[in-house]
Amino acid sequence: MLEERRMKINETVAYLNQRKTINPKIAIVLGSGLGGLATRVDVVDEIDYHEIPNFPVSTVKGHKGTLIFGRLNGVEVVILNGRFHYYEGYSMDVVTYPEQVFAGLGIKTIILSNAAGGMNPTFQVGDIMVIRDHINFFGTNPLMGPNDDELGPRFPNMSEVYSHHLIKLAHEKGKQLNLHLQEGVYMGVTGPCFETPAEYRAYSILGADAVGMSTVPEAIISHYRGMEIFALSVITDLGVVGQVVPASHEEVLEAANAAEPKMVKLICEMLPEM
Ligand code: HPA
Repeated sequence: MLEERRMKINETVAYLNQRKTINPKIAIVLGSGLGGLATRVDVVDEIDYHEIPNFPVSTVKGHKGTLIFGRLNGVEVVILNGRFHYYEGYSMDVVTYPEQVFAGLGIKTIILSNAAGGMNPTFQVGDIMVIRDHINFFGTNPLMGPNDDELGPRFPNMSEVYSHHLIKLAHEKGKQLNLHLQEGVYMGVTGPCFETPAEYRAYSILGADAVGMSTVPEAIISHYRGMEIFALSVITDLGVVGQVVPASHEEVLEAANAAEPKMVKLICEMLPEM
């Protein structure tokens, strides 16, 4: 099983290694409604997931399925334009497959983005929250099962999953750009239901500032594989006690689209110093 998985990852990495003409050290995962960043990239090669051996394919509206090699603000990057969610029915292995491939490609730093519901009463729709830490509420973990010691440790230390150094850089650049950044804890849940008012309240009491249906599995595997992580949530709806506004997927995408230019600005400014 481990052998088979490693062979699959190696096959994907080998295909991309012989195809790619640049050698990025930074990967970016685009969240729901945040695909517009891809239009800012000087594209060197855009590869449909279908073309990549062993790569999963994406099913959700608003999620394209291409891997983009290119330059953003002059910095070489590889972009996952369309991620895989657990709620789509994929296994955790599939959800985190791109991160395994990124590690195999020699990526050192990964930027994860997502749309999330805000529970901190100081948050507003359209805010950007720098993720300081997460709570894994998926009820499972992508590292369940036998461990492949060649890939990472059996019992990963999780005391600094989100790089303090990159959080500091984000605040410095945010200040320069006059962007008001929030910072907080992201709670990862399976979805696909949005939360009930009682769930928003419960998660808030547990210490989360925002909730969403991704990022945590990818962060776990990225950390396990030794990558430095920076992650952002775009707050697309609010689950604040006493004022839960019913969210729809369309509203989430719309709010994410509206806030996206801020996210793009911040990432572009950070990239040369990452
Ligand atoms: N809950 C869960 N996931 C989300 C939300 C939310 O309120 N908004 C965007 N993704």
